[in-house]
Amino acid sequence: MQNAAGSGGWPGSCNLSACMPVPDRLAIRGDLLDFVATPALTDAAAEGGAAVRFLPDHWLLVEAGRIVGRQLQDPGDGWSREDHRGHLVLPGFVDTHVHMPQLDVIASHGADLLDWLEHYTFPAERRYADPEVSRAGAEVFADALLAHGTTAAVVFPTVHAVSAEAMAAAAHARGMRCITGKVLMDRHAPDGLRDADAVTADRELRAGIARWHGTGRQAQAVTVRFAPCSTPEQLALAGRLMAEVPDLYMQTHVAENRDEVRWVAELFPEARSYLDVYHRAGLLGPRAVLAHGIWLDDTDRALLAETGAQIAHSPTSNLFLGSGLMDWQALQAAGTAVSLASDVGGGTSLSMVRTMAAAYQVQALQGAKAGAWALLHAATRGAAQALQLGHEIGSFETGGVADVCVWDWAAGPVGVRRDALVRTLHERVFAWLTLADERHLVKTWVAGQVRHQRGATIVPREDLR
Ligand code: GUN
Ligand code: ZN
Repeated sequence: MQNAAGSGGWPGSCNLSACMPVPDRLAIRGDLLDFVATPALTDAAAEGGAAVRFLPDHWLLVEAGRIVGRQLQDPGDGWSREDHRGHLVLPGFVDTHVHMPQLDVIASHGADLLDWLEHYTFPAERRYADPEVSRAGAEVFADALLAHGTTAAVVFPTVHAVSAEAMAAAAHARGMRCITGKVLMDRHAPDGLRDADAVTADRELRAGIARWHGTGRQAQAVTVRFAPCSTPEQLALAGRLMAEVPDLYMQTHVAENRDEVRWVAELFPEARSYLDVYHRAGLLGPRAVLAHGIWLDDTDRALLAETGAQIAHSPTSNLFLGSGLMDWQALQAAGTAVSLASDVGGGTSLSMVRTMAAAYQVQALQGAKAGAWALLHAATRGAAQALQLGHEIGSFETGGVADVCVWDWAAGPVGVRRDALVRTLHERVFAWLTLADERHLVKTWVAGQVRHQRGATIVPREDLR
């Protein structure tokens, strides 16, 4: 198996045919829906408006793993044709914040963030010191993403370098776009879940970057768990790396829970705010992904916009852990990018469809009725753009990588009845995202390669591992 460690490409520059075997010419028929511009949060234009590209009963054309066109006519015998007429065809979802090891603690009862970390999450993550636990966990996790229609993700592994290695390897074997990197934490965590020392952490980060940053579709992120788990010295190390290595991502958590915010204020009295802790360390920029952002003020929101950092909104997690309601309208007004994220295992589902439905409810509780367009955009093109990957993923633009999913428009008596009665495209898509889940997923392609099919098990080829 060839990888870009030998070919030296940067993220997004992968020669797909060198990464995996793909059918030369693939045509997928169905109701194609993607975005060509950014809809406003409450835009509910009946037939989609200018931001939405809806092509009912069209063919999506894919050559060598990339999208080459969209057309009404049957492309003919020279194409491997997949007829999914009557189904919704979407770009693969982009989940901008999710924890690989936390499938093991999803749906754990009765705790707010800090208790939940101490009693469920940290004990579970300690197991990932074992390379075999990491390998098996990453494989299950990558397949689970694909079975939920997610083809690209920004992923927290654990503090153990082996877990980040396993995550990147599992994503690479499936040709998935994945941004990950070993988690930094050197305090306020139990034995077995802290970096040994700064020199070791630095060496492990650099090894991960050398191995995976720009290999195929993999990229690395400097992964700061959250300010309470890193000493100022470790945050400085993270900032130095961000300044030194081109195109690195940064991922962390910010302003999720009120007790957490108070704790950060005690630990970093010199900082103006929780967000400012990261800013002072040089961690904010256009490749920074910060989960939650619930307890921010206007100055924070302006700083996010100014630096180009994005908020990964994680509504099922925020509801489940009782963290609070993220104010999407205020972020939009400030010009901050907002993408959607599952945040499993604080989040209750890997499904970005369920995530969209929860995001609607979180905004409704604050008096804003998010449109289906903004919700779907934030899980596809909007997330891709916020990650500087709009040229590669998140839409059906010609030249992009063919990460594609086919969905049932409706299933079961309730969904079918509702779908039969919709009067506009917005009504139909909104009913779909409110009522559907991963069981509506028919098929997932990653770079033109089938990676999930309902009812079938698709095993990555041994030689791609
Ligand atoms: N803050 C620090 N770590 C975590 C985590 O694992 N999940 C969530 N939701 N918040 C965090
Ligand atoms: Zn998280």
